[in-house]
Amino acid sequence: MCYAIPGRVTSFNQETVIIDYFGEEKKAHNDFYELKVGDYVYAQGGFVVKKIPPDEALEILSVWKETFFDLQEIDLRLSRLNLEAQGIPRKTGLILDKLCEGRPASKEELLYFLNLDDPFQIELLGKSANFVRQKNLKNSCCVHGIIEISSHCSQRCSYCGISAHHQSLSRYRMGCEEIYSVAFDAVEKYGFKALVLQSGEDAGYQTEELAGVIRKIREELGALIFISFGEISIDALDEYYQAGARGFLMRFETSNPVLYEKVRPGNHLETRLELLRKAYEAGYLIITGALIGLPGQTPEDILNDIHLANELKTEMLSFGPFIPHPSTPFACEKKPLETDVLKTLAVARLCSDPESKILVTTGFETLTPQARKTGLMAGANSVMLNVTPMQYRKKYCIYPHRAHEDEEIAFQIQETISLLKSLGRAPTDLG
Ligand code: 5AD
Repeated sequence: MCYAIPGRVTSFNQETVIIDYFGEEKKAHNDFYELKVGDYVYAQGGFVVKKIPPDEALEILSVWKETFFDLQEIDLRLSRLNLEAQGIPRKTGLILDKLCEGRPASKEELLYFLNLDDPFQIELLGKSANFVRQKNLKNSCCVHGIIEISSHCSQRCSYCGISAHHQSLSRYRMGCEEIYSVAFDAVEKYGFKALVLQSGEDAGYQTEELAGVIRKIREELGALIFISFGEISIDALDEYYQAGARGFLMRFETSNPVLYEKVRPGNHLETRLELLRKAYEAGYLIITGALIGLPGQTPEDILNDIHLANELKTEMLSFGPFIPHPSTPFACEKKPLETDVLKTLAVARLCSDPESKILVTTGFETLTPQARKTGLMAGANSVMLNVTPMQYRKKYCIYPHRAHEDEEIAFQIQETISLLKSLGRAPTDLG
């Protein structure tokens, strides 16, 4: 867990640093700085990402001190369960009790939840997931920034609006200086501590040039950098790690190998999984997950997706709805229901590692305007804000009318902070 507030180094345990936040102790790896007891740092995703001068840290801490405890209290109040509420079928109550106590449920029991269609029971499922989130992770909420650096893509995924199928799309590729300058604003002007650099599978960049910009962002700005460039080579994976990237974001899209080959023709699920495993072994934090509502996908597939994400030792689970794009082979397929996504988030929270972060995706917010709030109240604890320059946003149209695509960064931050405050959540990587 990590807070956007500075923490004070209190001791060392080999390469691990122990950091104090108002009496709560957290551990982080220190790959990048020389540190001593008493230094102040920002930690993200278990890595020290920036060392900051004590006077600056103390000033920020004095602003945070009261808010920190106030938010925790609001969060605790909002996540209390009233399972004695009337009308719950006995089976639902029994399984939820078990999961809330941290005991595992069977496959049949988890599928029972994914198949629920009674709104009252679905609400209860979400509340239970929120209770478990609160119990395990308190009120921390990750707010990463994402920069979509290029919309060029050589892949032909049947669902994706920037795939090579979409021939009429006017595409862009940001140069390295431009990428750095966008990252500079995101960190220095807007306060992001964790950034995702994302693109289609674009052969137009050399690995060395992207490694160069990653190194510069890492060294000069001090942020946690995630790469999300699709299925890159092992050499590239290593080169980006050497440059300072510490996160790898790539969904496996579906755990069903037959469905996988239908939605990513010519590709194999095992190749993608192997890369995710290699990235984990190399030391990357993993963000992965699947699409919800792919044609022919069953609730059992979704449960397997959740289990697969956990087997891959995922730091942050990313499950979002499939949204049809008119210029793709899946143009006429149906999108899923809001409740399909909510049930997935809630079940993921109830059967994943207690420390797992779960994202409310922009896809979910595109499906339904209340999604950020409902998702955060159903087990999720992370969001990503789009910090891509305005002139490129519509060109990165993986699906149409993406939520927030017309909103300036400052506005998105303001809205996010105000929602998080109302829910008693503390942003961990912004501010
Ligand atoms: N609907 C929802 N998500 C999509 N993605 C791509 N196309 C779509 C779509 N039509 C997601 C994929 C990919 C991520 C970058 O965007 O899951 O991994």
